[in-house]
Amino acid sequence: MSQILTIADLKDLARRRVPKMFFDYADSGAWTESTYRANEEDFQKIKFRQRVLVDMDNRSLASTMIGEKVSMPVALAPTGMTGMQHADGEMLAAQAAQEFGVPFTLSTMSICSIEDVASVTTKPFWFQLYVLRDKDFVFNLIDRAKAAKCSALVLTLDLQILGQRHKDIRNGLSAPPRLTLKNIVDMAIRPRWCAAMAGTKRRTFRNIVGHAKGVGDLASLASWTSEQFDPHLSWNDVAWIKERWGGKLILKGILDKEDALMAVKTGADAIIVSNHGGRQLDGASSSIMALEEIADAVGDRIEVHMDGGIRSGQDVLKALCLGAKGTYIGRPFLYGLGALGKEGVTKALEIIRKEMDITLALCGKRLVTDMGKDQLRR
Ligand code: FNR
Repeated sequence: MSQILTIADLKDLARRRVPKMFFDYADSGAWTESTYRANEEDFQKIKFRQRVLVDMDNRSLASTMIGEKVSMPVALAPTGMTGMQHADGEMLAAQAAQEFGVPFTLSTMSICSIEDVASVTTKPFWFQLYVLRDKDFVFNLIDRAKAAKCSALVLTLDLQILGQRHKDIRNGLSAPPRLTLKNIVDMAIRPRWCAAMAGTKRRTFRNIVGHAKGVGDLASLASWTSEQFDPHLSWNDVAWIKERWGGKLILKGILDKEDALMAVKTGADAIIVSNHGGRQLDGASSSIMALEEIADAVGDRIEVHMDGGIRSGQDVLKALCLGAKGTYIGRPFLYGLGALGKEGVTKALEIIRKEMDITLALCGKRLVTDMGKDQLRR
């Protein structure tokens, strides 16, 4: 554990411990993966100003996201099939986030259900919604998230049609995963993962199976999933979802200034500047390069969050400097989970916290909330 110093170290360990088809699922981007790579690489183009002889005692990373107190402005992003990186993955990650004082977002496409996660947490988590064709099912999901006292609904806008990831196709990854001989052998050589999986009953999409009409088992799930994404989704849909939900609403998947201005009109509480971790439109801008223009365009009319490519506490601070009030990590916590279960998620958050704290000090700042554009060298 003492040799794990970076998110990349957690990734290396996860690659050894998680079956290839599930590790690749987390690690892949759409088509050429150019946007996935740009998300990470573009952070390196941004440089801090180094300041000296400033009192840097009593530093604080504490902030708020949509009015909720956070120990640092880094939430766990919604990620599908998290429970395949490690048995009960969503429950473990939610607990780690809760103990750390940061928000956890449960995906519609999770393995553990809303109720599973609620049963092991005492503070509210956030729920991510895909608007699917089956509107009764969508209503049902919103009502279940309300009943579980989720404190925000994260509505994902950038998946009306599914992007294509070559690695998933080559690995035979579908919902449910196809168990080819190659995949079975690959799982068998990861005894730690297999033992944990054998010890849980949560191995299917528990938000969906038994809840959506006609989806009673894994076989019916495959055809249901493939036809559920709704190409007709429009800004009008945001209005009825907002009304039905009635609580804090975050719109995820905005990468363009015009869309950000439309989002302001909906009255949502926040937007997430995001390209789905480079998993949807390959060739789109990195999130960090899109952030500043969007943040400037919306001003303080809506809170701006961002995700995509954050691999260190320095990346978080750069996003804050460019106008984000909060950030999310997807793969970094998945690598932690795959490597070491709950402890690995905590480790990923600790790594990021340490990097944020040291960087803040060397930039001559005491409060994370003081990081702004003037802290960057242009
Ligand atoms: C995702 N993402 C995602 N987003 C969403 O709204 N609902 C989902 O179910 C998923 N599923 C999902 C699975 C996996 C394996 C990944 C890696 C990502 C996107 C996610 O919320 C977030 O936007 C990105 O992960 C952020 O980029 P990084 O931090 O992974 O680089």
